[in-house]
Amino acid sequence: MIRSQFPALSQTLAFLDSAATTQKPLCVIEAMNEFYKTHYSSVKRGAYSLSAKTTQKFEDARAKIAKFIDAQNENTIVFTRGTTESINLVAHTNIAHGDEVLLSVLEHHANIVPWQIAGAKIKVIPCDDNGDLQISELPNLLSAKTKIVALTHTANSIGTINPLQEIIPAIRKLAPQAKILIDAAQGAPHSKISVKELDCDFLAFSAHKIYGPTGVGILYGKNEILETMPPWQGGGEMIDKVSFEGTSFALPPARFEAGTPPIAEVLGFSAAIDWVNETGMSNILAHERQITAYALDELQKVEGLQVVGKPRDRGSIISFSLGKIHPHDVALILDEDSIAVRAGHHCAQPTMERFKVPATLRASFAAYTEPWEIDKLCKSLVRASDIFVY
Ligand code: ALA
Repeated sequence: MIRSQFPALSQTLAFLDSAATTQKPLCVIEAMNEFYKTHYSSVKRGAYSLSAKTTQKFEDARAKIAKFIDAQNENTIVFTRGTTESINLVAHTNIAHGDEVLLSVLEHHANIVPWQIAGAKIKVIPCDDNGDLQISELPNLLSAKTKIVALTHTANSIGTINPLQEIIPAIRKLAPQAKILIDAAQGAPHSKISVKELDCDFLAFSAHKIYGPTGVGILYGKNEILETMPPWQGGGEMIDKVSFEGTSFALPPARFEAGTPPIAEVLGFSAAIDWVNETGMSNILAHERQITAYALDELQKVEGLQVVGKPRDRGSIISFSLGKIHPHDVALILDEDSIAVRAGHHCAQPTMERFKVPATLRASFAAYTEPWEIDKLCKSLVRASDIFVY
């Protein structure tokens, strides 16, 4: 039983907000506890065996994550605070005022705002009424001026899985100079990703959406690209030599990891990757496909419910509205019935605008989601409809 490995999950709360954050299996919690209780020390700084042991575990985690996404080697993995910080790092170190960046209308704000702050001129790939990107627009949007193309693997708002295996080769052909960044926050937790097969230049995801702790994530970058990037934060461990006249910097990934890193979180992240590997990504994907199909069928039986978007390929995310009732009002009723969903714009206001909705309700699933949770959701939605006669 997968669910029983998650201490915070019960048989009464329907937790349908895994796209926001996943619950943690006991092995992740214990890995972090064990570190604090039995072998706590800093990394890369202590001339004693305890610190050497922790440093080894920390670097083993980096190697494990590199293998998890099929990266060339562990030096391609930079630890960050999460997907948001990873994208900010790339924007800050690659974009000068007026550089062109191509995004899509399905991006999370974390893949829009950092580019704006860096001063980029933004172009946008539109999507059709189903929520599929209009790839045929690429020739009109890409040019020799495109510096970066930054796209989501899976849209957090409506669940579209983008056909990156088609899009990336098309970008390479039309704008060979453009670097490609993939926001895999909603992708890496749900399916096997190979950065080698995708041939992206950067990829970012967060530990807390893949059964790990908050406060840590990674930026993958091809070695030869990371090596050309300047540092973005100064501090300990990111240097080669420091004097008051000037500083030379360490090679990546250390160049991008100033300060004491989130050690317990990295060890928890490592335990989460072990858990996913042991559970089997293909088993997780198969389960989530099944539960998402069941949820789509059942939700569409609820009178007045409209699913937003009908993408060709959908992750374990369903966005919907219930008649004219405001999603926040519906969410209150669901909460009374012990159902956790996200309601709002999902940090994707341009996507909401594209679909002409101010907000939606969103149910999202993970390895531990069970059919009774969907049944409970549908029953409560009917109750909400009866309360808010529209
Ligand atoms: N990006 C997370 C979500 O979609 C927080 O809910």
